[in-house]
Amino acid sequence: MDEIVSAPLSASEWHFDHEGGELRVTFLTDAIVRIALTPWAAQPHRTWSVIPMSDLRRATAVTVTQDAAIMELTTPALTLTLDHQSGTFFVRQANGVIICDGVKLTDQPNGRRWEMGLAENARILGGGERTGPLDRRGRTLTFWVNDALPNYDEKTDAMFQSVSFLTQVSVGMVSGLFFDSNWYAQADIGESNMDRFVYTTSGPDLVAYLCAGPTFPETLAQYASITGLMPPQPRWSFGYHQSRWGYTSAEDVRAIATTMREQQIPCDAIHLDLDYMDGYRDFTWNAERFPDPTALVRELREQGIHVVTIIDPGVKIDPNYAVYREGLALDYFIRSADDTPFEGWVWPGRSVWADFAQEQVRDWWGKQQHALLDAGVAGLWIDMNEPTQADMWAPEGVHIPHGTSLPLDTVHGPDEQPLSHAEFHNAYGLEMAHATQAGLLSQRPGERPFVLTRAATAGSQRHAIVWNGDTTSSWEHLRLAIPMNLGMGLSGIPITGCDLGGFWGNTTPELLTRFMQLGALLPFCRNHSAIDTQPQEPWSFGEPYTSIIRAAIERRYRLLPLLITLAHEASEMGTPMMRPLAWLSPDDVNCLSCNDQFLLGNDLMIAPVIVEGATSRNVYFPTGEWQAEDGRWYRGPDVTTIPVTLETMLLFQRAGSVLPKAEVTQHTSEAAQGPLDLEITLTPAAPRAEMMIWDDDDHPQAKERGTFACYVVKAEWQGEVITIRLSQHSGEMAMRYPALRARLHLPQGTYTLETLPAQAPLQAEWHFLIEG
Ligand code: GLC
Repeated sequence: MDEIVSAPLSASEWHFDHEGGELRVTFLTDAIVRIALTPWAAQPHRTWSVIPMSDLRRATAVTVTQDAAIMELTTPALTLTLDHQSGTFFVRQANGVIICDGVKLTDQPNGRRWEMGLAENARILGGGERTGPLDRRGRTLTFWVNDALPNYDEKTDAMFQSVSFLTQVSVGMVSGLFFDSNWYAQADIGESNMDRFVYTTSGPDLVAYLCAGPTFPETLAQYASITGLMPPQPRWSFGYHQSRWGYTSAEDVRAIATTMREQQIPCDAIHLDLDYMDGYRDFTWNAERFPDPTALVRELREQGIHVVTIIDPGVKIDPNYAVYREGLALDYFIRSADDTPFEGWVWPGRSVWADFAQEQVRDWWGKQQHALLDAGVAGLWIDMNEPTQADMWAPEGVHIPHGTSLPLDTVHGPDEQPLSHAEFHNAYGLEMAHATQAGLLSQRPGERPFVLTRAATAGSQRHAIVWNGDTTSSWEHLRLAIPMNLGMGLSGIPITGCDLGGFWGNTTPELLTRFMQLGALLPFCRNHSAIDTQPQEPWSFGEPYTSIIRAAIERRYRLLPLLITLAHEASEMGTPMMRPLAWLSPDDVNCLSCNDQFLLGNDLMIAPVIVEGATSRNVYFPTGEWQAEDGRWYRGPDVTTIPVTLETMLLFQRAGSVLPKAEVTQHTSEAAQGPLDLEITLTPAAPRAEMMIWDDDDHPQAKERGTFACYVVKAEWQGEVITIRLSQHSGEMAMRYPALRARLHLPQGTYTLETLPAQAPLQAEWHFLIEG
């Protein structure tokens, strides 16, 4: 640090001469500090990940202490100490735990660098879609959205979703570090030197945000306040989705829907892959194979099934195709360095790519969606938006290796503000999701948009949910799915899932069953497979598989009130729906190392069976008592071996908790006939339970309009009496269930209490007398 160049810019911002540029430290809140190194010659910082600074900044009270050697900036959440001599800084949480140890920011020939020490016990989690263990220490992560090779494995680096937000857990204290760069970047997390963390971005500047935590929920909420929240998602999206590349005609699709209902497999959505298009042209229907899409979509909707269609950003070069002609005339496609539209190869053959960096292109693209929305399509699935190319139809001699993106010198943006692909690459999928969502909202203002994207980066949660692209039908990929999805949740993207059954290759009956049992409890639940693979719909292998898979999906529908509540929490606080075991016990090293179990919410622990031919599995129980669905109790911390069969799904409810469950319906809009069940676990050591349950009318502004219901359930065991109360805490929506039923799970047994009618105003109360 050379010298302080001026007095503070305001009571919460300081700047210094540093490394041939400016180092600026801004306290955005007590717990969030922005640190930016901007070389003098650098262009202004551009971001697609961070929400407007004015929405983010809050009044903070920073206490300044300084002498010739150091300057100390303190808030109730953290202390940042700058050492003028060495030019390094340290950050401590309020209780003294160091979260940034001797940070040195430098301007290197290969990029702007953030280097610091890593505490011996520190774990680093998150970082977007990653294979391998949840703890990233010992790896170098590349931040570059990438169409990963089929059969990616534990060691694969860059994947489809790149998020440069990392959570650090050190002595049970959690904090976050977010690098706001869409340029190619890497973080060496103790790989070259186990005690060092080195992040390097190829961008012209380095902008980082520090989140002081000190818990997982607070860290994720702080990160969400920087990059935004996921908007409320439609209710139907939490049901089961069926997909396949290869439903080649309307008849195929009808048959899937009919079988779904015949087989009594709950289902809320069918996805149409490229097959519905006319020669891979976006926003068209194949007139021969899908002659009356409106009728098809209507018929499916009558059965409670929503239709989702795929859209890719590559536009077929065809002078007879209106979207291409119009986009070309308007100059809406990404340009080569020579200022002509860049032409590459993807599914439609020779193609150009829509330039989502431009607002007018996003508007235009959104309007094109009417071709699908007019037919009644409910949601959009956007793909190949890394963006990636494929040489399937390329002529001899043109070879485009799998995962090739666009050249780095292609040009985005309006003429007056050009942007290189090198700068915009990681944000391309985010802005395509933005365009898609805005188009849906403007054409259907009263409906929550559903957008599913493959490419994502920090901030994508504002516009879409994601799935882990192109999983292989293998046991290895089934196992990888757990830490991959957990990592996404810790990267601020709360709703994720994977291709159940596996995308590439043929699945087996047992593998499909295990995939479906896991997937039924993931935030997003869709079975999807590649063209030319064996069918893998739930009934494809007959009995006993069909019944076992049906039971897995039915479990999801039973848990719908929980899923809806968790999604609401996510949209309010940035909390992932699926959480690592360490979520509430970051000081438990076994939880921190656990890659094969997870929590749905705080209180439901899931230990999926992920080994072929398994007859038992080891389950780690964190501190506390846990009850299995068969009524057995387990006490942690402990590892227990539990026998399993193909039917087994291992779910455990924490003692001292409430789980809301509904009766199984065939789809989420079917009116509830049965009661809302409150499954309550209490023990002498955990005699109290409390939960907030959320429901709403599915309107995008349900919260603002008051068309929601927020119920509070409290249960307490005092002496010989257990009292349970449910009341409507806020919101004006009437309860959607006709009745309420409480089930008490105690060490001495399970007791179903009287079913009460759900009359307004909602007040239910049960008293249970413990005998002897
Ligand atoms: C990509 C997608 C996959 C889709 C296929 C054809 O590989 O990841 O889900 O089925 O393209 O559209």
